[in-house]
Amino acid sequence: MQTLQLKTNPTCPDTEVCERAGALLRKGKLVAIPTETVYGLAANALDEAAVHSIFVAKGRPQDNPLIVHLPSPDWLPHYTPKIPEAAQKLVDAFWPGPLTIVLEKGGKIASAVSAGLPTVGFRCPSHPVASAIIQAAGIPLAAPSANRSGRPSPTEAAHVLLDLDGQIDAIVDAGPCSVGVESTVVSLHHGIPHILRPGGITPDQLRGVLGAVEVDPAVLQGLAKDAKAASPGMKYKHYAPKANVTIIKGSLDTFIQYVRSQPQNETYALCFEGEQQKIGLPCVTYGTANDPASQARELFGALRTLDKKGAQTVFARSPSEDEMGLAVYNRLLRAAGFSVIS
Ligand code: TXA
Ligand code: MG
Repeated sequence: MQTLQLKTNPTCPDTEVCERAGALLRKGKLVAIPTETVYGLAANALDEAAVHSIFVAKGRPQDNPLIVHLPSPDWLPHYTPKIPEAAQKLVDAFWPGPLTIVLEKGGKIASAVSAGLPTVGFRCPSHPVASAIIQAAGIPLAAPSANRSGRPSPTEAAHVLLDLDGQIDAIVDAGPCSVGVESTVVSLHHGIPHILRPGGITPDQLRGVLGAVEVDPAVLQGLAKDAKAASPGMKYKHYAPKANVTIIKGSLDTFIQYVRSQPQNETYALCFEGEQQKIGLPCVTYGTANDPASQARELFGALRTLDKKGAQTVFARSPSEDEMGLAVYNRLLRAAGFSVIS
């Protein structure tokens, strides 16, 4: 199959492009679309066969559910039977934006979307092109990140094409994504609201609206072999470049001492802007040391750059684990297969 490539301005969506994408989606086709977090691989969330083809194109495990994207909050009551008060507060505060809320599944949503769970994650993206495409399609869109399963999420159209060219019907290119890590996933089914995946909305932002919020332990730890995942996505190796990645906690000096003591074999440092000279090893940077938002924007692209350079061994500087840094650290931990040296 040839993948149709469409381009649009990110802030002022091209109507013709959005309508073409919308028409393909209505016909059950797969279209990669830009969102403020990462590119998503979209299909009609009401069409069982279309949703199934997402899993095939990505090589995604069948038990890992998808997020349903809506163009505006007023669509939500059509697709879930119940909107708890806490959920409504989150919708009012953070939609449109990088927050996914896990709610009861309404009957119209295809069962493949929720992978058999009684719940569905809903999100209303703030990217003008994403909203315009969903509006044009006139249907809710199921969309995981548009990467091959296990690879870093795509923050540019080129990343999507590297993984999926020829396996999806179309891609709408609107340039780089502004957040760069995926949405925060929140569940209200655990008593105290639970963060199943940290992302573009920080724990403190959520606490500001809901009061107490817990971060699921699996965010910072590998799941025990037989443990049940609150969110199936927690179980899988994720964001992995081909190299072996190890996170080194501590100061830049500690980092330099450690990496210089190691045997060098296509070894790279994954570090912050401005540290390259001091480290004296081949380096790829991801943002600046005190700016987690810049780290979020650049991390996935940096992991792909390391692959392109043929890195075998990567030592990574550790981000802070606070606020937006928690999402960055969570992705880096999974890219490193939880290999951390303190
Ligand atoms: O920012 C994002 O969320 C992007 C863009 C495209 O919107 N999408 C995205 O989708 O990251 P995906 O499929 O790569 O990640 C969805 C995550 C997975 O970890 C999945 O297990 C979890 O959300 N999830 C989805 N539905 C769930 C549910 N009903 N209960 C618990 N976790 C759920
Ligand atoms: Mg993903």
